[in-house]
Amino acid sequence: MPVEQTLSIIKPDATRRNITGEIIARFEKAGLRVVAQKRLTLSTAQAEAFYNVHKARPFFKSLVEFMTSGPVVVQVLEGENAIAKNREVMGATDPAKAAPGTIRKDFAESIEANSVHGSDAPETAKAEIRFFFCDLEIVG
Ligand code: CMP
Repeated sequence: MPVEQTLSIIKPDATRRNITGEIIARFEKAGLRVVAQKRLTLSTAQAEAFYNVHKARPFFKSLVEFMTSGPVVVQVLEGENAIAKNREVMGATDPAKAAPGTIRKDFAESIEANSVHGSDAPETAKAEIRFFFCDLEIVG
């Protein structure tokens, strides 16, 4: 299986509840390695740019407000099949539909405040990693 990198965001609902460590432990237990990490607060322009693909969706404005409502922890996760593995560990977008034992099932507050984001494909992973990190900041 190929070694991949994927972009992960621990969202404001999780930083507010001080559960970033519990979430990171889930990634590590699944064999994913944190090779870059920083905590920051997104500006409105940054959140709009990051979620530009969802611009036409009815939930876009609310999503941007939520993502700027507090700090986030952005990370690059590395491992075999990291993109799919991370999505498996996160669970479905809607916590009501997420499988038992997944991060979203155990921690998410709602479909919007769903604790984590993860890239969905190799091309988006590359673009999303580049959005937050330069090469010097990614240390495997
Ligand atoms: P994420 O994986 O970061 O990708 C887009 C985000 O939009 C998603 O997680 C949720 O936070 C949010 N989202 C997706 N669908 C909905 C929805 N139906 N209502 C509100 N927010 C949503």
